[in-house]
Amino acid sequence: MDETFSEPERNELQTELLYVVKGLKGQVLNRDSLSVGIEWKKALPEVKHVKADSKTKEEGLKKVCQEMTNCQLCPLGKTRKNLVFGVGNPEAKIVFVGEAPGADEDEQGLPFVGRAGQLLTDIIVKGMKLERKNVYICNILKCRPPGNRNPLPDEINKCEPFLKKQLQIISPKIICALGTFAAHTLLKTDIPISALRGRFHSYEGIKLMPTYHPAYLLRNQSAKKPVWEDVQMIMKEAKL
Ligand code: URA
Repeated sequence: MDETFSEPERNELQTELLYVVKGLKGQVLNRDSLSVGIEWKKALPEVKHVKADSKTKEEGLKKVCQEMTNCQLCPLGKTRKNLVFGVGNPEAKIVFVGEAPGADEDEQGLPFVGRAGQLLTDIIVKGMKLERKNVYICNILKCRPPGNRNPLPDEINKCEPFLKKQLQIISPKIICALGTFAAHTLLKTDIPISALRGRFHSYEGIKLMPTYHPAYLLRNQSAKKPVWEDVQMIMKEAKL
């Protein structure tokens, strides 16, 4: 028995090691090596996105939105007031992906219009010096989970193909995944957001920055600094 570490220390190290191995596996399999400067040999080919003009992208998004107008693929179809598809510029360089609509979003049919939405708007407008209408904002789930509970795996599985189409059509330069659910769903990992943030990952050949969710930021002032660091990395990469 190794006496160097106590039982809790050993458990903590084992967990940490697991995340390191998972992270390395992600780097090898998904070309997730953008901020560590390593050229991985065994990388998947990047997806070539078809360049389209803004009219084509707008029409493409409209079509996907129409496809899901009366969606009943999961039980949230029964409880929603409005489906919240997404808003913004179909040609946006940056797409923000949140978790799911809350009460305000369900009421208005628009993403990020409540308190967390105001904070996201401040990040975009005051922090990035962009207009909200020039980025694109959407969620993993398009319908509100009752009582703002966490999305269920079946709901995510049913809704994700629509998000995938949205992202393929917009084909942005950068995706910003807001919070655990967005990051875990898009990156197919369960590594904590605290370990994922701060560097770019790859989603189908598109650079993806995970950061803390604005709702978390409202409750944790200490998350302000890391979020600002992540946002600055996005701005640098997008050449803003
Ligand atoms: N939180 C989200 O994740 N999305 C919204 O649209 C609003 C709050």
